[in-house]
Amino acid sequence: MKIFATYNIKGGVGKTSTAVNLAYLAAREGQRTLLWDLDPQAAATFLFRVRPRVKGGGHGLVSGKRPIEAAIKATDFDNLDLLPADFSYRNMDLDLDDAKKRTRRLGQLLDGFTDDYDVVFLDCPPSISLMSENVLHAADTLLVPLIPATLSLRTFDQLKTFVADSVKPRPELVAFFSMADRRKRLHRDVIETFDRDGADVAETVIPALSIIEQMAERRAPVPAFAPLSRAALCYEQLWAEVRSAS
Ligand SMILES: Nc1ncnc2c1ncn2[C@@H]1O[C@H](COP(=O)(O)OP(=O)(O)OP(=O)(O)O)[C@@H](O)[C@H]1O
Ligand SMILES: [Mg+2]
Repeated sequence: MKIFATYNIKGGVGKTSTAVNLAYLAAREGQRTLLWDLDPQAAATFLFRVRPRVKGGGHGLVSGKRPIEAAIKATDFDNLDLLPADFSYRNMDLDLDDAKKRTRRLGQLLDGFTDDYDVVFLDCPPSISLMSENVLHAADTLLVPLIPATLSLRTFDQLKTFVADSVKPRPELVAFFSMADRRKRLHRDVIETFDRDGADVAETVIPALSIIEQMAERRAPVPAFAPLSRAALCYEQLWAEVRSAS
């Protein structure tokens, strides 16, 4: 079982869009796939048309009072299950703090799925928190969307430090440019001059495309409702690059 997390300290950079589209693509090629929506905003849960509700909330799952399997919902797609978000996840740090291994609890919970899923995606809220530390421990690969702008690259440096300081073994870090606008000189310059400095940066660039925003109206992954679109092809290319990572 391989665990990917879409993670960035910054918000609104394309984490959820990436998790939803790549999870769909993994499932479409026959891999048993689970997406855990860890964000109380529940965007991924919404996109898969599932109710953002987990009985017993985050507390029930983290404390072990509720079996995590019971919270899993099927999606409209073969091989693709969802562990929905719940508004109580906003307090998950408190629950994790009470756990015996406070930075490894999510990983322990996920260990229970080893025989059930080939690929797991964790869609994370934008933060540096105990939950993110748990995600760093649990994930094999962190997928980090970067908007090609100076401030987002500064945040990426913070993220690299956070990963280097907080976990061993370190998850593999794969950054990629997201919402890139080739017409913007700044975007082009940042992509061309980006100092890779120890991080893997995917060849694939996800452009800013309005069809990706339409996921919210269609409530489906892009390759499901527009399989021949440029956006679908970009996500396929990204998946081809990262699925074999590490
Ligand atoms: N490549 C893209 N082109 C155009 N719009 C995009 C693209 N990627 C994401 N968006 C839109 O930008 C918004 C934020 O995207 P998304 O929810 O994937 O980011 P996020 O990093 O998960 O945000 P948050 O930090 O709030 O969880 C959404 O409205 C989404 O539809
Ligand atoms: Mg999100």
